Parts: sequence; structure tokens; C-alpha cells
Amino acid sequence: MKIGFFQFKPYHGDKEKNLEIIKEITKKSKSELIVFPELATSGYLVPDKNFLEKNSFSVPESKEFEVLLKTVKETRTGLVTGFPEKNNGKFYNSALYILPDGKYGVYRKIHLFYKEKLHFEKGNNPLDGIFEYNGFKFGIIVCFDWFFPEQIRYLTFKGVNMILHCANLVLPWSQRAMRIYSVINRIFTLTCNRIGEESCGNEKYIFTGKSQIVSPSGKIIARANSNNEILRVKEINLKESEDKNINEYNNIFEDIKNFFPYNIKIL
Ligand code: ACM
Repeated sequence: MKIGFFQFKPYHGDKEKNLEIIKEITKKSKSELIVFPELATSGYLVPDKNFLEKNSFSVPESKEFEVLLKTVKETRTGLVTGFPEKNNGKFYNSALYILPDGKYGVYRKIHLFYKEKLHFEKGNNPLDGIFEYNGFKFGIIVCFDWFFPEQIRYLTFKGVNMILHCANLVLPWSQRAMRIYSVINRIFTLTCNRIGEESCGNEKYIFTGKSQIVSPSGKIIARANSNNEILRVKEINLKESEDKNINEYNNIFEDIKNFFPYNIKIL
């Protein structure tokens, strides 16, 4: 399956411009699935509530969603992007998927990082980031969710072939951790990070780029550098993640049962 990411620096507080970029890149990618960073439609830092009012949108009742849906249907390219979501008067740091058949869903970031807690509600729908597409299963996480292996394991036990990680990473270890997660869960992981800097008052963030796609054996299939805008698309055999055997004696879905004193449910 042809899957890719677009690492870029979103325009801070310019939803229209960012949506235009997402539309253009989705067309240009000629892929089956393209992933964009966390909060790709708004930029990261939230100076005040007015910023969120101006840069958020609702799903599915918004012109922004309509624009993205039309793009996906026209290009036959599925899309996953982070965005600030407004729902029932509350704001969430969310990621939206839209598939060419019109199916869509929104996952809301569960583990909010630092001052995100001042602006966003924490997510309440871990299952809504799981979707099936072209015979494979995907699970979405957003940025700091990576710090919580329970969430990665949960998605693995749900049978996902690939984790899609929309990110605005600032800590240095995430890309390495995602590589390890691929190996110990025998899944593909795709991290789409942003680049550049953002400042607001005396807060300054430097984002780490290095977006990547990793195979279940830990092979780096694609890797961006830390400061360039880049579109990468790769042909990936997602079936590889369905083999949970490490050798003829060790199957991770079997062996994990030895650890737990209670029945854990896999798939
Ligand atoms: C982060 O969760 N955006 C660091």
C-alpha cells in the first residue's frame, strides 16, 4: 500500500493557508494514505481562546471538513491530519481521518502535553482512532501519547497493522521509542512530525522533525531530517505486521499470556 507523510511548518494561526497546503499535498502525493502533523491546520501554540475559536473546526458540520472530504474523494487518497476540534463548545487536540469512500472519524489526544492542559479537554475516545482501509487496520495517536506504552499495546492488541502518529515533537527520544514500539509489537509505525519554531510571549518551542516510517523488524523505511519540509511516500507491505512470530518457539501474542495472571483479550 502506498503510504506517506508530509513534514512541514504549518502557518501559525492561518487555517485557510494550511488547509490549502493539505489539499495540494494530498493531490501531489499520489498515495493511498497521507499523514500530516499534529495541529497541522493551526500551528501549535495557543495564545488565547480567541485563537482556538478562529482556528478550530467541527466534524462533520464545517466548511473545513467539507473541503477535506472533497479533496479525499477527488484524489482517492485517504488523509489523516491533526487539527483543533470544536465540539459542544469544548476544544480538543484531535486527529481526523477521511477515507475515499467518505468514511471518517476523529481521535482526541488523551495525553495532553504541558500547557495544552490549559486549552484543551483531554481525549475521551481511544477507539475512534482505529479504522480499516484497503484490508488493513490503522490506529491513530497524537504526539505525547507516545510516552504511554499502554496505549501502543492497546492498539496492538486491537490488531492494528500500523500506528499513525501525528506529532509536534519537542522531546528528543520519541523517534527512537517509536522504533522500539515497532519491534516489540511487530507493527509498522509512521510518525509525521513538524519542523520549525514557534514563540508566544516568553514561550519558545523548537520542533524536531525526523518524521519516519518503521517496519515491524525495526527497519527505517523512510526518515526525514530535522529541518526540511518533505513529502515521502513509500510502497509498504503491511502484511508483514500480521506475523507475530519471532522464531518457531516465540509468538508475542502467545508469550504475553504467560506474564498476565488474568486473561487478556487480544484482537
Ligand atoms: C506534544 O505532545 N505536542 C509535545
